[in-house]
Amino acid sequence: MITAALYDAKPYDREYFPAAGGKDLAWRFQEFRLTADTAATAAGAVAVVAFVNDRLDAPCLKILAGAGVRHVALRSAGFNHIDLTAAKALGLAVTRVPAYSPHAVAEHTVALLLTLNRKIHRAYNRVREHNFSLAGLVGFDIHGKTVGIIGTGKIGRLTAQIFRGFGARVLAADVAPDPTWAAAQGITYAPRDEVLAAADIVSLHTPLTPETHHLINATTLARMKPGACLVNTSRGKLIDTVALIAALKSRRLGGVALDVYEEEEGVFFEDLSGVVLEDDALSRLLTFPNVLITSHQAFLTHEALGEIARVTAENVRRGASGEPFLDGTQL
Ligand code: NAI
Repeated sequence: MITAALYDAKPYDREYFPAAGGKDLAWRFQEFRLTADTAATAAGAVAVVAFVNDRLDAPCLKILAGAGVRHVALRSAGFNHIDLTAAKALGLAVTRVPAYSPHAVAEHTVALLLTLNRKIHRAYNRVREHNFSLAGLVGFDIHGKTVGIIGTGKIGRLTAQIFRGFGARVLAADVAPDPTWAAAQGITYAPRDEVLAAADIVSLHTPLTPETHHLINATTLARMKPGACLVNTSRGKLIDTVALIAALKSRRLGGVALDVYEEEEGVFFEDLSGVVLEDDALSRLLTFPNVLITSHQAFLTHEALGEIARVTAENVRRGASGEPFLDGTQL
């Protein structure tokens, strides 16, 4: 029997992982996050299955290796939360699920933008209270607007294509542009600052790296078109939250939709409805009528969860038997 300890386990993990696992795999579900403080609980497991807010730093990985773990399987596409150098030095194999459903994230990105722009969230609450007034609900047509896509990988491309379907002009920026794809989609690449200056809607789709950390900051926000909307479904730390709040207070930005937040660890995914929210920046963001936040749920579709569980289970099995991991999943 192969035992894998799965951390930050959600109710849906208990459904999808056993379904994908088969009889030779035993999942040990732990609801707490994996950090140096909790890593010793992995004893007896050959693999750990980690999520985006687990903290896989060198001290945590050292404890895992000492406990007999040989494989860290990230059940996410992003891998900014693991110290890969330390994992390598400790002989730990690391895998991720690079493309479980880019559609899920692209579609959520557009859902957020549409909700923000057409104020569906506000209208929904109003109508439930029999308030049928339209005051303050004016949005804008996406048709004919300019959408700026920063990062044209798997998710950025799909998002760009959906916006093209609305009849928007799409400008894109990427460190590794794909002119053939862009030409086929009627999309134009431009330097990032030009995209920021021209776009009515900016959507971020780069990974979090030292280069993209605080990609949106006071300087880049000042370059954006006044009244533009900003959407981030990638990683919270792409945006300097303090600068974002200043840009909202000065009315520089028209609206902001976020599925990720700089300090989401320990907050997102939790039910904190009965406790005091200690994060002042998040509390402030939640007060703006033109800010819409979801709690890192862009990936949360039936198809994506099935694929995450399938790829992770297969890799755990392969890791345990010394077979090569699925193509493109090992870091
Ligand atoms: P990808 O690796 O296919 O594409 C990333 C693109 O960003 C590449 O084209 C790359 O060249 C470009 N890029 C890298 N550095 C850049 C820079 N400094 N400036 C401009 N472009 C740059 O990744 P994919 O699958 O499209 O995912 C994007 C991000 O979305 C992931 O890294 C992850 O953080 C996030 N994500 C969020 C989810 C959610 O539930 N909210 C779920 C899945 C992914």
